[in-house]
This record gives sequence, structure tokens and C-alpha cells, in this order.
Amino acid sequence: MDNITPHASGQKWNAGHYAENAHFVPQLGHDVVKLLSPQPGQRILDLGCGDGALTERLVQLGADVLGVDSSEDMVDATRKRGINARVVDAHELPFDHEFDAVFSNAALHWMLDPQAVLAGVKRALKPGGRFVAEFGGHGNVAAICTALIASLQFRGISARGRHPWYFPTTEEYASILQTVGFKVDTIELIPRPTPLPTGMAGWLETFANPFLSGLEEDLRHSIIDNTLMLLSHSLNDGQGNWTADYVRLRVSAHA
Ligand code: BEZ
Repeated sequence: MDNITPHASGQKWNAGHYAENAHFVPQLGHDVVKLLSPQPGQRILDLGCGDGALTERLVQLGADVLGVDSSEDMVDATRKRGINARVVDAHELPFDHEFDAVFSNAALHWMLDPQAVLAGVKRALKPGGRFVAEFGGHGNVAAICTALIASLQFRGISARGRHPWYFPTTEEYASILQTVGFKVDTIELIPRPTPLPTGMAGWLETFANPFLSGLEEDLRHSIIDNTLMLLSHSLNDGQGNWTADYVRLRVSAHA
């Protein structure tokens, strides 16, 4: 696994941790699937398919789906569901005018060169094909990022180069879509505070390793403990229930 590319964030994907700590991610994908409204027989590319949980939903709705992900571990998990999937770097999509739609849920914020990604998405689509996606938009997990950065700095570690995510405004993303030749149908930012079934510690274990990479185990633990302490004031309800400060960017565009 860990298919590190020039654009990669340094995130280490583990399908087991993901299933345990982030199974809510595909469960919250219903609205973007509704926006896609896949029709039986349509050829759809699921970009950043993760462990294939939502890809499976598209298959159940009758679409002919290919899942792609940069993580071998995630692609293996998708294939175990009987779904066609390939390891592909989203910045170098190898498809040529073959899909009716490109779909993506909770993945595009990991892809740090959006223009390269969207140029490949446009090329992958048949003329008039649709791009429907949801991912972290401007302001997403702002409190979590601030607490991680403050905790690193408290231990004398620069956070420079450690922030692994791309959370654009609607204006910025619409402009890139238009630059590569899309027409934007709808684009919006949706605040969506999201309960975390395994708490903030589970979320940090699954997603925050780019902030902590290269640090000794003791130091990592101390930074995570401090992050939890800072966040307990804003994202814990005092009864032990944690919520992540998610903001979704949801977009529909056509080629
Ligand atoms: C998100 O879905 O917004 C997200 C998930 C993991 C890390 C950062 C953002």
C-alpha cells in the first residue's frame, strides 16, 4: 500500500482502520449519490473509491462502475466486494472519453493538484458526461487543523508542509472546472457537523498521520493528547461524544 506520488499527502491508508473509524463516510454519501442519480447500464468512474462501500451502492443501482484509488489496500478491499477496481493516481487518469459520469465522495481533498485531476476527469468523460462530487470545502475541519498545528508548535515543531488537504472555496473550484472546459451546474458549501462513532482519537488515528509523520511515538502521543485537550472545548459535548467540524463542497458539472 502507500502509493506515494509527487502529489500525495503522505497519508497511510489502512482498510481495517478505515472500516473501524470511518464507516460513516460512505453512509453519509446518500445525498451526493442522489445528485448523481445513476441510471442502469451507465458507465461510471468512482474516483477515490476507498474501500468500495459507496461504489457498491452505485453497482446495486445498476451502473457499470470502475473504482480507482491510489491505495492498493483500498483497491483490494473494493475488489473483495466483487467490484472492478484499479490502482490509479488521480492526477494521471488514463481514460479517454469513455464514462457517462465521474463520481467522487470524500476523496478530492486528498488530491493536491486539482487542475491536473479535473483535466483528467474531463478527458475521461464522453461529450456531455457529468462530474458529480462531494469533498471537504473551505473551512472543513478548521478546528481540528488549528488544534493539530497549535499542538505541533507547542512542542517546537513547525507545521509547515504538514497540512495535507485541499479545501477550496466554491469560487476557486468553479474557476478550475471552467478552465478545464466544464460547465458548472450546481456548486455549494454545506456545513455538516458529523458525529464520530469512535471519537476524535479514532479520527486522528485514521486521518492525521501526515501531520505527525516522522515523529517519535512518544511525541506523537503527546501531540495527539494535546490536540484532544484543545478540541474538547469545542467538539466534545461534555458527555464524551465527539463531532467533526465538516464542511462539504458539493458540485455537479458537465463536459
Ligand atoms: C473529510 O471527509 O472532510 C476529511 C476526511 C479526512 C481528513 C480530512 C477531511
